[in-house]
Amino acid sequence: MPTSPLDSARRAPGDIRLSEVLAGLSYALDLTEGQRPGHAVRTCLVGMRLAEPLGLDADDRAALFYSLLMKDLGCSSNAARFAALFGQHDHELKADLKRIDWSHALESFRFVARNAAAGQFWLRRVWQTIGVLSQGPEGAREVVRTRCERGADIARLLELPEATSAAIRALDEHWDGNGQPYGLRGQDIPLFGRILGLAQTFEVYFTSYGEVAAFAMAAGRRGKWFDPALVDALFATRVDRSFWDDFATGTHPDDIAVFEPADRVTLATDDRLDTVAEAFARVIDAKSPWTYRHSNGVADLAVSMGARLGFRPKELRELRLAALLHDLGKLGVSNLILDKPGKLTDEEFRTIRAHPAHTAEILARVSCFRHVADVACAHHERLDGRGYHRALSRETLPLAARILCVADICDALRSSRPYREGLPTERVLEIMSQDAGTGLDRDCYDAMRASLDEANATDKREVPAARLVPSLSEDYVQAG
Ligand SMILES: [Fe+2]
Ligand SMILES: [Fe+2]
Repeated sequence: MPTSPLDSARRAPGDIRLSEVLAGLSYALDLTEGQRPGHAVRTCLVGMRLAEPLGLDADDRAALFYSLLMKDLGCSSNAARFAALFGQHDHELKADLKRIDWSHALESFRFVARNAAAGQFWLRRVWQTIGVLSQGPEGAREVVRTRCERGADIARLLELPEATSAAIRALDEHWDGNGQPYGLRGQDIPLFGRILGLAQTFEVYFTSYGEVAAFAMAAGRRGKWFDPALVDALFATRVDRSFWDDFATGTHPDDIAVFEPADRVTLATDDRLDTVAEAFARVIDAKSPWTYRHSNGVADLAVSMGARLGFRPKELRELRLAALLHDLGKLGVSNLILDKPGKLTDEEFRTIRAHPAHTAEILARVSCFRHVADVACAHHERLDGRGYHRALSRETLPLAARILCVADICDALRSSRPYREGLPTERVLEIMSQDAGTGLDRDCYDAMRASLDEANATDKREVPAARLVPSLSEDYVQAG
């Protein structure tokens, strides 16, 4: 095992590694995948440990390291399709899929029958099952392809090595050619893709059923799902009891630092952090077809408003980071709720109202984002204390959070939602003016209005005629 996690000579006190940032944010990907917190970090530990005997050079180890940590970057992009196809919560579908041999026809059928419209009337379940099966292999391939290609694209946006993108694209390929989405076989599958496939499945089995079951799964799928040489390498690590005993008792993001090549440590500079936030904004917005470009739209408007309200460049940058990441917690909300065309139940409201708390929990794991976490997770708070999730008041809401709240509502109202069309700007201003000075900060409302006036000079987009919004406060809850 490498012994020097940090190249301390090149790092100033307080420097933060990109790997620390991505390890913290990988918890958002775990949430999207319906996996237990720490799944990606633990997959990284397994993959790097089993790859040790392969003698990879530092560049390759760095590429593999980031592949393992960021393997699920595309996970949000097929969630809406998955949920709609099955009429089932995407997190439950994804978690269940990780625990079966989906290349086996009978297991696949059982998976469909178990999940199609789960909990619904039997006739609805039969109808949904037929609907899923009618998609055939091409339908399944398309769902996986979307996720793999999107993940590879976002890895490129993060400026990770090309080998990392290639590995993420091949995440679900199988050694025997029965994987997805391209049916690659044997050595045609990039080596790091083969390691990802084995490490992620092994982690799920280890965490769900224990060490013995995980090794049994790996042995059972040797030469089918997995490269036989890699399964043998994994078994060779079994004598390393300190590694596996530590693994069984839990881990912390810092533990993966020992596997990051010391001379390939990338520091999380301001530019890098901006790129990371942009990339994760794409992950967030891909969760639902109704939030396409929402995070960027909120960020652009919030920064414009902040500039009008006298924010300095450093404050504007932090405001932009908070805006890009404000809905991170929505990755934990089922698409059956996010994309529901009708009125939400009380239980569904409770679930959606918890998403800012999830944003706070995830950002708390990333030390350099903690200063933006308080602003990001307050985007549904109101001056009159009727917001959520902490019901903060005028006295405790910083200006940045007030700006973000106004920008979020504005962008949401102007965009179409499953239960209404996007509203024209005049109607948005009219609706929001009713709350200006009470729930919403008056100065922020005026800044938003000025920003929209300026943007309207160049913005030619046509907004469809709106249906009447039945309840303002309800729409705020569902919208942003
Ligand atoms: Fe939002
Ligand atoms: Fe939100």
